[in-house]
Amino acid sequence: MTKINTITVKSPANIAFIKYWGQKDKTLTLPYHDNFAMNLSDCTTTVTIDVYDDPKKQEIKVKPYKQTDFSPAPESVTKSVTKFYQTVRDYLEMVDDIGYTVWVEHTFPHKAGIASSASFFSALALAFVSAFGQKLPEKELSILARLSGSGSAARSIPDGFTWWHMGSSDDKNGFSASSFAESMHPPDYWDLTDVVVITSQEEKKTGSQDGHGTAETSPFFADRLISVPDRLKEMEQAFEEKNFTRFGTLLEQEALSMHFVMMTQEEPLFFWSGKTVEVLKKVLDLRRQGTECYYTIDAGQNVHIMCEGKNTDTVASFFQEQSEVEEVIVNKPAVGARVIVDEE
Ligand code: PMV
Repeated sequence: MTKINTITVKSPANIAFIKYWGQKDKTLTLPYHDNFAMNLSDCTTTVTIDVYDDPKKQEIKVKPYKQTDFSPAPESVTKSVTKFYQTVRDYLEMVDDIGYTVWVEHTFPHKAGIASSASFFSALALAFVSAFGQKLPEKELSILARLSGSGSAARSIPDGFTWWHMGSSDDKNGFSASSFAESMHPPDYWDLTDVVVITSQEEKKTGSQDGHGTAETSPFFADRLISVPDRLKEMEQAFEEKNFTRFGTLLEQEALSMHFVMMTQEEPLFFWSGKTVEVLKKVLDLRRQGTECYYTIDAGQNVHIMCEGKNTDTVASFFQEQSEVEEVIVNKPAVGARVIVDEE
């Protein structure tokens, strides 16, 4: 067996300001509405693929956060990577298989509400396309990342502040070409910071993939679908004006709207821990004391705290000192997925 090539891709996690929860088409991973996010500079995943001429070789190795060695990926990860490899092959209409070893490294705890599947699958989309010796325009890479099943991966492909157009399932190619993410603003458009507050590295028990499936069963879901488009429009306006107070107010309303649905859907998902609630209360305290900052939470117990760049040190050092907090990761707006090594 001969190694043909090595490709390394680095891709960011992203934090949604207007979230995606529930799927109007589960096979194509289509959201019910457009959504909007920021790519994170310091929560990234690096995927390296060693490409072999023997297609029987297909292995995945993972190095968990803060560990020194790679170990074989759990079966669930191997399954989803193998499935996604097939999706990429079909999308590219490749006739021949390749052999591969995929090496995965995260700079943050995974499965803890920091979008590790978004950074992982966006990196994997670009890495597999490159491993097949192909190139795709950004829009198509975003479509492909979405087809991994982790829809939010679509938003980690373009740069900066990204908008995922919901699209529809009625286009002809079977992949839905209308559902993709694009950059609304480059990373340097607005000096914002996301201070990720880690209260626990414990892995969540239910992943978002399962959670999306029953979102519609929440009595609050219909109301959410009515309120999101207006909130999205207002958020867009807040961005145009760089109105941080308006942005932050909408950010918190949106996070709570999604979590009310999660908590009240069939198989309720209650991601918050006691520590999460303490951190949320401390965000309000800090704000009352004059440091303007706002929270949002994804599918996990850890909290994302948004502030303007000038308040980064105050917010980060305040939360670093709190008893509920294990560590903080300071993120600036970042570029999307990039090939960083491609060696024959
Ligand atoms: O893309 P998924 O299947 O990992 O779902 C992401 C869901 C949330 O993180 C909770 C919200 C979002 O828009 O990122």
